[in-house]
Amino acid sequence: MIVAENLVKTYEGAKSPVLKGVSFKIERSEVYTMLGPSGCGKTTSLRSIAGLETPDNGRILLDERIVFSGKERINTPPDRRNIGMVFQSYAIWPHMTVAGNVAYPLNGRGLPADQIRKRVSQALEVVGLLELADRPSPNLSGGQQQRVALARAIVAEPSVLLLDEPLSNLDAKLREQMRRDLVSLQRRLGHSTIYVTHDQEEALALSHRIALMRNGEIVEEGKPVDMYQHPQHPFTAAFLGAANFVTGRTNGAPQQGEMIEIETPFGRFSGMARQGEDHEAKLFFRPHVARLENMAGSCDVNLGTGVVSEVLFLGEVLEVTLRRGEASVRIRTAPGPQVEVGAQIAFRVDPAQSAIFLPRR
Ligand SMILES: Nc1ncnc2c1ncn2[C@@H]1O[C@H](COP(=O)(O)OP(=O)(O)OP(=O)(O)O)[C@@H](O)[C@H]1O
Ligand SMILES: [Mg+2]
Repeated sequence: MIVAENLVKTYEGAKSPVLKGVSFKIERSEVYTMLGPSGCGKTTSLRSIAGLETPDNGRILLDERIVFSGKERINTPPDRRNIGMVFQSYAIWPHMTVAGNVAYPLNGRGLPADQIRKRVSQALEVVGLLELADRPSPNLSGGQQQRVALARAIVAEPSVLLLDEPLSNLDAKLREQMRRDLVSLQRRLGHSTIYVTHDQEEALALSHRIALMRNGEIVEEGKPVDMYQHPQHPFTAAFLGAANFVTGRTNGAPQQGEMIEIETPFGRFSGMARQGEDHEAKLFFRPHVARLENMAGSCDVNLGTGVVSEVLFLGEVLEVTLRRGEASVRIRTAPGPQVEVGAQIAFRVDPAQSAIFLPRR
């Protein structure tokens, strides 16, 4: 189990903290993904858990043991935290063989040579590299180096695994393969894992839970499917996949969590009110939840109308852009009957799959 409480970190010479009170709790066997744009503090959070950075304040517990406490002045060194880590640049020693690299964390622990050999073989077996044990490390492909880094992270049987963009140096195909491998490895070994990425698709595919970060803070945390389908925060809506935001007007003083209506250039829509962060109210829905319809009954609520300004054939889907003055929405639909640029067309949005972000008060 990993617990972080209110971690604050300011780098020397910096004006403002890069971690502004980051807290989370990760259960055993859970994959917790920290996702967010470059510079939001993902690596800093991970390095703080590992003991490679010292936060200004807060508390870190690993398996109920306090390894860092600003108040109590506790700071356990990295090699006594029982963690395995794969760094953003995974730092394989070029002067060593594959087996030498994997054995590295076991050196200096006073283990007998045959024990070390056995553990290294097991770790290499797990990542499918046993037959390459004696190969010099420079003669490896990117994906193989990646696996060596992973074997090295698990060889000492850590209770916590920290992975910082471990797949970022791989091409798309290998990345997908390694993604599947990582999931099955995690199932077998059952570590508490923190996975850092700025790739939203990877986060959705790999995680039990996602924490979306921005500017040193966790904006929202939850299960991938909830975060994607029912984002509570507009930043989550925008970051976790294609999104439409249509500015409009709401009536009265709506409260968060109420079903309300919004008047937009395309028509009137209903949806669940959520707290936004702009000056205007916005209807949110993902392009694939809208359905194109013929114009009949087009004054219904949840049925919008617009003029087709672009049609893109993307293979599996057709992406249709509709306009009304300055406003535009994108709709993804199965390729079907011809949709012509310039035509008036209607679209329906299921209120169970949309949200209305309220203006900031
Ligand atoms: N050693 C350091 N000294 C000073 N500033 C640093 C240091 N390391 C990181 N920073 C700054 O702290 C902020 C957070 O950096 P961090 O590496 O945690 O971001 P990240 O979310 O991992 O980004 P990326 O996706 O690019 O890896 C950035 O603005 C970065 O420039
Ligand atoms: Mg980073």
